[in-house]
Amino acid sequence: MVSETGLSQESGAMASDNITFSRGTDLQEFYRNCNVFVTGGTGFIGKVLIEKLLRSCPAINKIYVVIRPKRSKSPEERKEELIKCSVFDVLKATNPDFHQKLVMVPGDCSLPKIGLSPSDYEMLTQQVNIIFHLAATVKFDEKINIAIPMNIGGTKEIIDLGRACVNLKVSLSH
Ligand SMILES: NC(=O)c1ccc[n+]([C@@H]2O[C@H](COP(=O)([O-])OP(=O)(O)OC[C@H]3O[C@@H](n4cnc5c(N)ncnc54)[C@H](OP(=O)(O)O)[C@@H]3O)[C@@H](O)[C@H]2O)c1
Repeated sequence: MVSETGLSQESGAMASDNITFSRGTDLQEFYRNCNVFVTGGTGFIGKVLIEKLLRSCPAINKIYVVIRPKRSKSPEERKEELIKCSVFDVLKATNPDFHQKLVMVPGDCSLPKIGLSPSDYEMLTQQVNIIFHLAATVKFDEKINIAIPMNIGGTKEIIDLGRACVNLKVSLSH
């Protein structure tokens, strides 16, 4: 069936002003133009999540990843290290610019206000639509004075950030 705009409705093609784009699946549409905030993005689950979001939801806008400066490496150096990971090989081949959607934000989830700079915190409250909180210490015998600020305090800080976000759609925490 062809509509007045001349676009096939079966194919789900849509037009907005002069921009024409194909409609994706419900999930792809959910993420369209969204900004996602991820903690634990350098971890096992975080890498898989970031890769899946970038590969399957190409209309996603940005993925902000909180990253703690580690082993004297800057956030940009840690980003380079992250995207070298083989989990991103398919993306590198199909969409070599995928890394431009990844924005590293220096912070530490065990600290008040996630250890973010006031300007980054404010920026995230304005930009973020979806939060995935994956950062954790997963050592079963972690010292209690490390585990509590990280796994409990960090989760509370993320909830507080979510409450401050002006355009939040959804927040998930493991
Ligand atoms: N792995 C599984 O099979 C599995 C299954 C179910 C649920 N989960 C849950 O998924 C979550 C992530 O697990 P994972 O296996 O991906 O763990 P992981 O590989 O050990 O990754 C932990 C992540 O948390 C980050 N992190 C730790 N402390 C931080 C801090 N103070 N500030 C900021 N970031 C910090 C680490 O960053 P750095 O790179 O800076 O260390 C890393 O990105 C956990 O809640 C876990 O219980 C995991």
